[in-house]
Amino acid sequence: MSHSIIFDTDPGVDDAQAIAIALRHPEIELLGLTTTYGNVDVETATHNALLLSELAGRGDVPVAQGAAGPMVKPRYPAPAHIHGANGLGNIDLPAVTGCRDPRSAAQFIVDTVNARPGEVTLVAVGPVGNLAAALQLDPGLTEKVRQVVIMGGSIGEGGNVTPVAEANMFNDPHAAQRVLTAGWPLTLVGLDVTHRCVLTQEHMSRIEAGQGELGKVLAGSYDFYRDFYREFLGIDGCCPHDSCALAWLLRPELFTTAPGHLSVVTEGAAEGQTIFAPEGRGFIQERWSQTPLAEVCLETDGDAVVEWITATLA
Ligand code: RIB
Ligand code: CA
Repeated sequence: MSHSIIFDTDPGVDDAQAIAIALRHPEIELLGLTTTYGNVDVETATHNALLLSELAGRGDVPVAQGAAGPMVKPRYPAPAHIHGANGLGNIDLPAVTGCRDPRSAAQFIVDTVNARPGEVTLVAVGPVGNLAAALQLDPGLTEKVRQVVIMGGSIGEGGNVTPVAEANMFNDPHAAQRVLTAGWPLTLVGLDVTHRCVLTQEHMSRIEAGQGELGKVLAGSYDFYRDFYREFLGIDGCCPHDSCALAWLLRPELFTTAPGHLSVVTEGAAEGQTIFAPEGRGFIQERWSQTPLAEVCLETDGDAVVEWITATLA
């Protein structure tokens, strides 16, 4: 089955790997990249999205710029120690020749979904302000998208930027609460599964060999990202978080999911925490089962996912 997708992203080393998949996979029609701040400021994110597309020979893919900061809270500084100040491991990068789409990311999403109702899947792998803004422009989007896949959150795994919050949810919890409770067909691909996947140097060598000019950027930025994983997490390799969203879309049989009700903590020490109430389970208050049903990923075969990523790009 093929998928027509808009890929919403903050590239970002692991975003770059996922963008390479979206640009290359024969079962993906990439309708556009929409950008957000997150791993980098939004101008850098847009620059990187244009660059990665051009290096893949896909300068035809529209890139629309979106959110420069969170909806409500102040923006945290970008994590340059993880992704590099340029988002791609501080490696030297070639010049970009193309220009971004003049529309905002939110307007691009609204226009594209309305042009093909029922056909477009939104895959979001950064803070989700662009999706929240698109819903504000057109609340009827919930009935017109085919699917929404979000890399973010954590059900039982704990957080990666606070003890309870995953980065994309933490960066804009108000947008996340809006998007995760919108009542559209949504799957959350969070740390419970992305932490089961480790992309090693051996995998990256195969990817570099298969990706031409883009491969040099993927491999160079990987080196920087891997150093972070080694130093801070004691892992020899990196978690390809954002590629897991595409792995779920294209190879759902590699994942175990469960239906339930999601909400996101927007204030206080637990801001950005995703709360999951399994479908049918009673709690002391009804509030936990009042948000629309969504699907969450709980387990995966991490080795198989990483092999799928590598084989796609090699
Ligand atoms: O928590 C992982 C997520 O945060 C990924 O999307 C990564 O790119 C960072 O933004
Ligand atoms: Ca990301």
